[in-house]
Amino acid sequence: MSEVLVKLQAFIGLIGLAAITPLLILAAILSQLIGKLCCCSKSKSIEGEVAVVTGAGHGLGRAISLELAKKGCHIAVVDINLSGAESTVKQIQESYSVRAKAYKANVTKHDELVELNAKVVNDLGPVTVLVNNAGVMLHRNLINPDPADVQLMLDVNLTSHFWTKFVFLPPMKAMRKGFIVTISSLAGVFPLPYSTAYTTSKAGTMAHMRALRMELALENQKDIHVTTVLPCFLRTNDEITQLTHSMAIDDLYPLISGEDVAKRVVAGMLRGEQEVTLPDLASVLYRLIFLLPTEWQARIILMLSSKRFKQLRDMQS
Ligand SMILES: NC(=O)c1ccc[n+]([C@@H]2O[C@H](COP(=O)([O-])OP(=O)(O)OC[C@H]3O[C@@H](n4cnc5c(N)ncnc54)[C@H](O)[C@@H]3O)[C@@H](O)[C@H]2O)c1
Repeated sequence: MSEVLVKLQAFIGLIGLAAITPLLILAAILSQLIGKLCCCSKSKSIEGEVAVVTGAGHGLGRAISLELAKKGCHIAVVDINLSGAESTVKQIQESYSVRAKAYKANVTKHDELVELNAKVVNDLGPVTVLVNNAGVMLHRNLINPDPADVQLMLDVNLTSHFWTKFVFLPPMKAMRKGFIVTISSLAGVFPLPYSTAYTTSKAGTMAHMRALRMELALENQKDIHVTTVLPCFLRTNDEITQLTHSMAIDDLYPLISGEDVAKRVVAGMLRGEQEVTLPDLASVLYRLIFLLPTEWQARIILMLSSKRFKQLRDMQS
């Protein structure tokens, strides 16, 4: 086809899309509203199934493990810090009658995850729920970050999701069912200056899960659900809480508790929601901001927060 014809075809396609977009937006809003009204009936059961939760020895991972156990799911509590994982197991066993076991594994190491899967299948059974929660935000030197810190954030927050996918997804595909929950961050859509490795890792994670969802649809794997979670700052990690407090982020929006996030995440996962934004309203906010030209998007984010980001930079210099 000639170049002129290809350009003309693309132009006509664009005009057509622009013309039907208002209708598509209306249909999307209606289907979201109907979905919300009928959500309870669509919730799936995971009673008796086995979940692997990474980074479950502390914070949000621990809260999600407890919430999954409440739904009757057996839990493989995975962390690089075994004593944290063991204390999560203790908390699960004190409250619920499901099986739970602590495993030490580093999610950045593919071979450790292969070994982990074999142990979990042997101890608890085949894994049908994977929660990619382990994550790190290092802010030791924001202006000139140590290359090792940048590498670690990308390895834990982004690359590890390829290794967990390689290990846990093929058996789910063979069983034709499963849930993959990946904890990203609002930083994936509202970039954080001076935390570019963290921002990149979280935006990449969201893109990874969007592409994976399409692959599953192309393979007709309708019963494998992928949920990405984009939370605002949480009250799960003392260091982050201190940092957000010194930047007065909690004046913009109160930090959310791990338990509240866990409830919303597990409910969303069981309803097959694709992206859960916390607070929920932030998803409307970022979609509205994305309608604006790029320079306006940055201007609006800086209008709200430039004082805070400068404060963060100055704290470090
Ligand atoms: N805390 C926040 O404000 C916030 C906001 C948005 C998103 N998130 C994301 O939520 C998730 C949980 O955050 P959190 O605040 O509960 O963190 P946390 O630091 O309290 O817990 C993270 C856990 O992951 C474990 N971990 C770290 N590296 C690991 C590795 N290589 N292998 C296995 N385990 C490892 C740690 O030992 C720890 O137990 C992370 O992905 C984080 O990026 C956090």
